[in-house]
Amino acid sequence: MQKHAGCCKGVATARKPESPMYVCICNALRQSQIEALVREGLRCEKQIYRRLGCRPQCGTCLPVARALIREAAPQPA
Ligand code: FES
Repeated sequence: MQKHAGCCKGVATARKPESPMYVCICNALRQSQIEALVREGLRCEKQIYRRLGCRPQCGTCLPVARALIREAAPQPA
């Protein structure tokens, strides 16, 4: 007797919801928010924070924010 014979066949695997990775704890800014603004053309962390209605507080997040901006920005051809 096969307990699970056919029970999983054809069933789509549930997609994991996008994890809300926080980049800036002080301002509760998520990676997805920063990436969205980079896609809109912003390339400076200060502009991004300002657009999100805040500004850096402790500054711990700034290196990560800069790296995200570099990674998310389109590369010149
Ligand atoms: S973690 Fe972003 S300002 Fe403190």
